[in-house]
Amino acid sequence: MAHPYSRRDFLGFSAIAAGATFTPKTQFLDSAYDTSSDRTAPSDRVRFGIVGVGMQGNSLLANSIQLPGVECAAACDLYDGRHSLAREIVNSTDLPVTRRYQDLLQNKDIDCIIAAVPDHWHKQIVIDAMSAGKDIYCEKPMSHTPSDGVEMVAAEKRTGRIVQIGSQRVSSALLTKARELVEQGTLGDLMMVEAVLGRNDPNGAWEYPPPPDLSSETLDWDSWQGNVPKRAFDPYIFARWRCWKEYGTGVAGDLLVHLISGMLYVLGINRPPTRAMSAGGILRWNDGRNMPDVHDTIFEYGKVPAVMRLNLGTEIPENYRFMGSKGLMEITAQQITFTPQSGKDESPSWYANSFPRSLRDAYFQKWHEEHDPPLGHEPVTQATMVRGVNYNELKPHLWNFFQAVRTRQPVVENASFGHNAALACHLANESYFRKTAVYWDERANSISS
Ligand SMILES: NC(=O)c1ccc[n+]([C@@H]2O[C@H](COP(=O)([O-])OP(=O)(O)OC[C@H]3O[C@@H](n4cnc5c(N)ncnc54)[C@H](O)[C@@H]3O)[C@@H](O)[C@H]2O)c1
Repeated sequence: MAHPYSRRDFLGFSAIAAGATFTPKTQFLDSAYDTSSDRTAPSDRVRFGIVGVGMQGNSLLANSIQLPGVECAAACDLYDGRHSLAREIVNSTDLPVTRRYQDLLQNKDIDCIIAAVPDHWHKQIVIDAMSAGKDIYCEKPMSHTPSDGVEMVAAEKRTGRIVQIGSQRVSSALLTKARELVEQGTLGDLMMVEAVLGRNDPNGAWEYPPPPDLSSETLDWDSWQGNVPKRAFDPYIFARWRCWKEYGTGVAGDLLVHLISGMLYVLGINRPPTRAMSAGGILRWNDGRNMPDVHDTIFEYGKVPAVMRLNLGTEIPENYRFMGSKGLMEITAQQITFTPQSGKDESPSWYANSFPRSLRDAYFQKWHEEHDPPLGHEPVTQATMVRGVNYNELKPHLWNFFQAVRTRQPVVENASFGHNAALACHLANESYFRKTAVYWDERANSISS
């Protein structure tokens, strides 16, 4: 991360910026996808191989090939239907396709890998890719377990390869603006963060329809299961793997990770939470899943609580509230609103109503003499609104990765950041299952309660 501030650094910023002015106006943001530095000479072309061309992989593939100087050299998937899909997306029946991702890693013409496979496969593919000398863009949540994340961070360090984790929110122009506001000390001292996201339909709850031709002929079901204890072929597990902890990480790894990544980015911090305490259950989608569909967690980041509420049983627009001593910053999908607060009494204390009349009257008179503004100079509060364009953040996030592959500059979301964001999700899940508060034990590299 470019600005890995600790909370103390963050509070330091607040103090330094205490006198800073914030010019209130409505601003419209341009996309962060800046191709002004395009270098598309043949020697600068980036050739990638994609592993996993499913729901997310098809979109990553379609977006990547629209970027200047970026080419898909091969696609890999364990299900043959997605070989056809990859060829349809790149519009070439010649695109090499395979069921073995190792073929892509051995291919000297491939500079980097995009991996969009279920969570239980992330670690192996990321470590194998880096060990084979490839940079890799891997989908979020980075890890399926905390120990996977520890190994992945170590492999990034050992190999010196570039890893970008796919929580595309950190490449959003809107959140970058929110981050600037925080850096300027606009919020004052941070008091609390709150975020919420809710859905209320079968698709939103991952009840996806399996591909009609899926069979043990068209899919390498054995490899798909990886190291997880083997089950008989089940097309529903293939399509709905998020519902089971053996393959996925529940609403925490699927959705909360976006909220956490965005929050860390806005606050300019890169660390796991100090503590987490969750509640929830399977309240709506009793379809055999073993992960909760309602999952609320109170995290602590240092002393600051962050309350995150995920709900697959009631649709709620996704939004954040950053609460500071100088006001409230609310962020929705397309908009930031900052409403300043003076933090001072704007009227005499209501407690004085409990004084006997003579004391009360004297208190009120004195208060007004000392605090009332001159007539005609009454204070007004001016809120600020920033609107973002509704563009797909995937492209800027992929662009950040491909540019890093070319220039060897750091990405916006490396393995250390991905690990810390994923740890928050693992803590949330552990707290839910253990029914107690948990924390990340840095020395033991494990979750304790
Ligand atoms: N960033 C986002 O907004 C976003 C959105 C959706 C999904 N995701 C993430 O993307 C990842 C994939 O999710 P999805 O919804 O696309 O899943 P999916 O099940 O639709 O697709 C995964 C594909 O990977 C293939 N696969 C599995 N193991 C493989 C292996 N070892 N080698 C080759 N292919 C393999 C499967 O056959 C399948 O086609 C997950 O980590 C998910 O959390 C991110």
